[in-house]
Amino acid sequence: MRRARTPRTAFRASRITTALVAAPLAVAALAAPATAAPAPAAEERSTQRAEGRNHHDRDTLRGVAPKGFSIGTAVAGGGHHAEQPYADPFAYDVEYRDVMARQFNSLSAENQMKWEYIHPTRDFYNFYPADAIVRYAQENRQVVRGHTLLWHSQNPAWLEEGDFSDEELREILHEHITKVVGRYAGRIQQWDVANEIFDENGEYREENIWIRELGPEIVADAFRWAHEADPRAKLFFNDYGVESFNAKSDAYYELIQELTADGVPVHGFAPQSHLSTRYGFPGDLEANLQRFADLGLETAITELDVRIDLPEGGEPTAAQQAQQADYYRRALEACLGVDTCNSFTIWGFTDEYSWVPVFFPSEGSATVMTEDYERKPAYYALQDTLRSVRGKR
Ligand code: XIL
Repeated sequence: MRRARTPRTAFRASRITTALVAAPLAVAALAAPATAAPAPAAEERSTQRAEGRNHHDRDTLRGVAPKGFSIGTAVAGGGHHAEQPYADPFAYDVEYRDVMARQFNSLSAENQMKWEYIHPTRDFYNFYPADAIVRYAQENRQVVRGHTLLWHSQNPAWLEEGDFSDEELREILHEHITKVVGRYAGRIQQWDVANEIFDENGEYREENIWIRELGPEIVADAFRWAHEADPRAKLFFNDYGVESFNAKSDAYYELIQELTADGVPVHGFAPQSHLSTRYGFPGDLEANLQRFADLGLETAITELDVRIDLPEGGEPTAAQQAQQADYYRRALEACLGVDTCNSFTIWGFTDEYSWVPVFFPSEGSATVMTEDYERKPAYYALQDTLRSVRGKR
């Protein structure tokens, strides 16, 4: 579970919560995917500030990134956030929105474009939260990564438990991809079309409803449909545990060659990169990215975080922070070392909203800023690394 908040954070969170959300009931309503949230007051304020914002500020990440390089973050909201004692961060935390606009030039929807959010019932698409992210990104001159279209997780019950014929299921996916990708056509730089389709042995995952019911050929169709809906978006395979050369990354390497030989519009391969200091850094990350780049593919790091085993008391030691910073730096260097790796996204930038303590008990402190937005060594590792290649890349 989450660590206890520091008093300052508690103050900030409760200030926001009590000012804008009357009761826990209202928080639940905000989190419910099918319910359109009230117009976020924070959005307007943050946008007003954005007008005078200098995106070349050298004291940020985006301001020191090489030209054309996307340095991104996931946008908190939905998923685990819905069960936390705070209001929707993206809608209500003004400081959060402000830091996000200043620091990053690329955004990924952490949950808001997943099926259970964007397509909560069969006949209803809730575009409200995703629209808000795309609009905010445009206002702040940020590109957007779309996440995700074909996955085994976070699917709505109507889909997973429905009794559909193969033809119906196929048509459901076709319609979904056409509507969702089509809605944001021209405004999404990269789509994670297929997420986590292989297990660690490189076999198709049985839990994936599409592959289980329709066969692996459906993956090619998903890419074709996405390409029809937005010919400009770069279409990716995305997965965890594929940072290194292993059975899973080999499976992608084989599959992508087959698909591209068949003319399927696959454009990219992305290791999510949820790392832990418990394990060594995947030292072959750059070489692995390079073999995909050599196939003519774009590459990206899409969900980097580096979790730490927290000592008693919950605060990482200086040595742990240094090790974490080293992982962040090496992951960024690996990407920068590969010509086609032009997008590097961290899975949240403040520990306040990180998914890690919720999903990995006893681990935490995985992002580059504390709960109070203080920069950790990992932040400076990214900033220094970007600075060092600026003008050289
Ligand atoms: C996570 C989100 O961060 C959580 O908020 C949610 O509860 C579960 O999903 N791989 C992915 C992401 O592709 O979508 C996952 O995001 C993390 C692992």
